[in-house]
Amino acid sequence: MVLVCVFCGPIQAQVRSCDWGATEHTSPDHGLSARPMCPGLLTSIKRLIELWNIVVAVTQCVRQAGRRGIPHRGAGLTARLEGQVVLITGAGSGIGAAIAATAAREGAQVVLGDLNAENARSVAAAIGERAISRALDVGEESSWASFVDYALSEHPRINGLVNCAGIATGHSLEETSGEEMAHVLAINTVGPFLGIKATVNELRRSKNGSIVNIASCAALAGLRSNIAYATSKFGIRGLTKALVHELGSYGIRINSVFPGYIDTPMSRPEWADYSVAGGQPARVALGRTGRPDEISGAVCFLLSAEATYCTGAEFVVDGGLTSVVPAREDSLLSSGRPTDNVGPCRSQ
Ligand SMILES: NC(=O)c1ccc[n+]([C@@H]2O[C@H](COP(=O)([O-])OP(=O)(O)OC[C@H]3O[C@@H](n4cnc5c(N)ncnc54)[C@H](O)[C@@H]3O)[C@@H](O)[C@H]2O)c1
Repeated sequence: MVLVCVFCGPIQAQVRSCDWGATEHTSPDHGLSARPMCPGLLTSIKRLIELWNIVVAVTQCVRQAGRRGIPHRGAGLTARLEGQVVLITGAGSGIGAAIAATAAREGAQVVLGDLNAENARSVAAAIGERAISRALDVGEESSWASFVDYALSEHPRINGLVNCAGIATGHSLEETSGEEMAHVLAINTVGPFLGIKATVNELRRSKNGSIVNIASCAALAGLRSNIAYATSKFGIRGLTKALVHELGSYGIRINSVFPGYIDTPMSRPEWADYSVAGGQPARVALGRTGRPDEISGAVCFLLSAEATYCTGAEFVVDGGLTSVVPAREDSLLSSGRPTDNVGPCRSQ
């Protein structure tokens, strides 16, 4: 029987059925006899199968993105937070301002809260129509109530809460009064607790509630020069873990992020000291301090539908700081630098 192979051209073949039911042919052009299939045909079929698998995989991604409400943008980018309303504390400066800007760029409507209302207003104005702001003292329950009321007067729901407001006093045990300790805990630890209490019902109602608490590497190892701050950051770390199950039963995720040395108004005064000592970047594996926008990406991931199975997790974003044994500290000690000033950045 004479056949024409569409891949290899005219052939003369002996056609018979294979065990698996496919058609066999032989081709004089190939110089082979009784081959199960010509090589050109086989390669082409393999390519077609590969292409088909790619088409199926891409189609599945597009369908899943559609189901999660993620509209596609050009250049492979997606608006990860499209349609979400996210409350961000401490948004008038540094890391909080960067989180607000990134979340808005990712499609969220952001509500900025800060003790410094003027700063929060400026940041919101710079972000544009996706941002609004309001004065907020995270340490005051009544202030939280009016902040949440304001958010709900402007938006129909709340999907996310980022507890970022924080203070650092930079004192040793001897220098820290009981009053100072209570104040730092009230802002850095009780503040996030009050925020979660104030928003939990709305987060529950949203069906995809996500809370991100900004801790610190000072919640992984204590800072001898910043007793109250380190204690408060261990507190927010503990609060996060303690709430995982209770909030999980409401479908709310809660995670914490641990920044290392990030260049913000909080940390800059300390860094002037460290740059004199030359010790700061040497302790960071990547050899530099971080930018606020290098924290906001991790936070937006945790707020997004890409992190639907993340809860109770601790995300260290420190350029490798806490992965390195601080041998440098020894050389600073031998240089005669006072010990209570040697160590990680006070606000870290
Ligand atoms: N900068 C760093 O190196 C670093 C490292 C680790 C963790 N952090 C944490 O990141 C968070 C942001 O710090 P940052 O570096 O952007 O500091 P920042 O000083 O630039 O910003 C902190 C913001 O919190 C606001 N704030 C203070 N008290 C408040 C209150 N009672 N109610 C509402 N807002 C209040 C301030 O007005 C300010 O706008 C803090 O929780 C801080 O502990 C910072």
